Amino acid sequence: MIIRKWMLADTERINQIEQASFSDPWSKQTLGEIVDAPNFFGLVIEVEGVVVGYIGASSVLDEGEILLVAVDEKYRGKGLGKTLVNTLLERYASNAIKKVFLEVRRSNAQAISCYQKCGFVKIAERARYYRDGEDAIIMEASL
Ligand SMILES: CC(C)(COP(=O)(O)OP(=O)(O)OC[C@H]1O[C@@H](n2cnc3c(N)ncnc32)[C@H](O)[C@@H]1OP(=O)(O)O)[C@@H](O)C(=O)NCCC(=O)NCCS
Repeated sequence: MIIRKWMLADTERINQIEQASFSDPWSKQTLGEIVDAPNFFGLVIEVEGVVVGYIGASSVLDEGEILLVAVDEKYRGKGLGKTLVNTLLERYASNAIKKVFLEVRRSNAQAISCYQKCGFVKIAERARYYRDGEDAIIMEASL
């Protein structure tokens, strides 16, 4: 298993995982464009040479925001999600980022649990934040 920087050539594979993981996925075009966006930082995790998960975040001054994270369904529950989140937090901490935020659907128990294990705490809720009317939980990690 290796973790490395998310590169433009990963777009096709990330798009496959993204489309299979979310009811409201990012488009392939947006996934391809974000790689070069200013302040974007992304990592992928490979098992036996195949990308099976990714995390993308952006930062401004000393604050970061996790924008997307997913693991291929076949590889979930094996610690890869925690590894992705923790690696991103380590990289951000060594780059003087002090706080990291994210939004997650209230019903997404697996993701919420993953974030809690990585040090995130709930700080707020946004009612009917998602297009289908679901509430968002806002979480924060202090580095
Ligand atoms: C959220 C996600 C990235 C987590 O990745 P993962 O590799 O499955 O997570 P991990 O194996 O590292 O598990 C992290 C924690 O989640 C919890 N967890 C794992 N499997 C779970 C399950 N089936 N149900 C509930 N919680 C679960 C556990 O608390 C686990 O910690 P532990 O191993 O110390 O007990 C992954 O489930 C995923 O891709 N989900 C679909 C996309 C998504 O919802 N992304 C987040 C959007 S905000």
